[in-house]
Amino acid sequence: MKISSIIDEKEKRVAITPETTSKYLKLGLEVCLPRGYGESSGFSDAEYESAGAKICSEKVPDASLYLCVKPSDLKNLHLEKGSYLISMLLPFQNAEILKKMFDNGLNLCALEKIPRITRAQSMDVLSSQSNIAGYKAVIEAMNEYGRVIPLMMTAAGTVRPAKVLILGAGVAGLQAIATAKRMGAIVSAFDVRKVAKEQVESLGATFVEVDDDDNGESIGGYAKEMSEAYKKKQAEKLAEALSRSDIVVTTAQIPGKPAPRLITKEMVENMPSGAVIVDMAAENGGNCELTVPNQKISYNQVMIIGYTDFAARVAHDASQFFAKNVFNFVSLLWKNNKIDTSDEIIQATLIK
Ligand code: NAI
Repeated sequence: MKISSIIDEKEKRVAITPETTSKYLKLGLEVCLPRGYGESSGFSDAEYESAGAKICSEKVPDASLYLCVKPSDLKNLHLEKGSYLISMLLPFQNAEILKKMFDNGLNLCALEKIPRITRAQSMDVLSSQSNIAGYKAVIEAMNEYGRVIPLMMTAAGTVRPAKVLILGAGVAGLQAIATAKRMGAIVSAFDVRKVAKEQVESLGATFVEVDDDDNGESIGGYAKEMSEAYKKKQAEKLAEALSRSDIVVTTAQIPGKPAPRLITKEMVENMPSGAVIVDMAAENGGNCELTVPNQKISYNQVMIIGYTDFAARVAHDASQFFAKNVFNFVSLLWKNNKIDTSDEIIQATLIK
């Protein structure tokens, strides 16, 4: 059986690397890729060929399994009837078009729907990509921030360390905390889930506490929407923390809902001039009132970054993680030399 992929002008990451190519071959699968497939992530055709892939001149080679990152134009993706498309597919936003594709005979696995259970951790593309995105968001923020990050004591004077605030201490947030700490910033973080306090503190950051009994954790460990009384106390606490922060990275999200609004225009107005906010939730409505998705804007001397492609900005490494996640998924799907969708993890991803 053949595995392939497509080149997407808008996506720098790839779902198949030379390393996973040789792993697929060991499973008894063939890999056939369009010419120049891995260029945007720094993988050459020669590397794929020496790993055992065939390089084809067709844009969409014939195959039974198409492994992709996140196709930007599903409407114009014409794949063979009966084949499988395994990819991030934005299942909530794209519900209508995905239903059409399914009705036209395509089998679709939306990798976002992989359950966050222990057995599926090695396939969890959202976590692997959020992890790398959390790192890159801090790097971008520090690059934009026109001042020094760590404490510098020199004969010419002392520079105080930058103060970094991370809102939402999930996968992206914890990596953002660790990255900012490594750079020598003074880091504090906030999350509605009380269990996050221990994780934040174990990374050497200070947890911003809201004095309220409401715990933001719901069944499954995800965040839930908070009470109005909690939101009021949280806003007061955040306004105060923001007025002292040089760099803010926001990652707050509640599954299946628009991102919670945590930073208002007034709060931005009270931030130090030269401060930088990176709103990682931009694609989902944003945690900051002023965020514009995919843009960098300046408001009242504060830079607000709403990029939605942080993982793709480190395409080589993000692809290595993504491709391994996908390989682990395909290994579960390909049993006894045939496709078997019976596993609960595969079932959870199927669009029907
Ligand atoms: P996650 O679900 O692991 O973490 C989200 C955290 O937000 C949770 O810890 C949750 O408790 C917290 N949270 C929820 N409501 C909150 C509130 N009102 N105040 C404070 N914290 C709150 O999600 P993950 O994987 O870390 O992703 C975070 C965000 O980053 C998502 O919106 C995701 O779509 C986005 N993302 C953006 C990328 C980009 O390039 N901009 C790339 C990857 C992820």
